[in-house]
Amino acid sequence: MTIDELVAAAEAARDQAYAPYSGFRVGAALMTEEGRVYTGANVENASYGLTVCAERIAVFKAVTSGEREFKVIVLAGSGQGYIYPCGACLQVLAEFAPALKVIITDETRQHKEYNLNEMLPQHFVLPT
Ligand code: THU
Repeated sequence: MTIDELVAAAEAARDQAYAPYSGFRVGAALMTEEGRVYTGANVENASYGLTVCAERIAVFKAVTSGEREFKVIVLAGSGQGYIYPCGACLQVLAEFAPALKVIITDETRQHKEYNLNEMLPQHFVLPT
């Protein structure tokens, strides 16, 4: 899948967001090393702290489908400008792919590319 196709997948996923409280919809498209794509959107809750971000929905869908190796995640927010993954999502992504490519898009479909290891240089790992 091309980056443009992944951006389209993230935007389509964003349509499925459940965001009645913030009104801010986010879509994510996570591609495995083998090219399979798992999408997610944010799911909010009346008990606000229980909200789950789009990125974590995507990674949890993928992992519970048997996937462990990821190449890239694309994020699409519903506002203007770029949105960056929150710290909790970076930690969850780093569990599986500390060098994941992270692509963020704006409303005009321009995108910026980062590596997860520059966004979160260290992540928590249980000491042995
Ligand atoms: N949100 C995400 O889905 N991903 C992020 O990385 C940051 C924030 C969602 C959570 C909430 O539903 C809304 O954006 C506003 O915070």
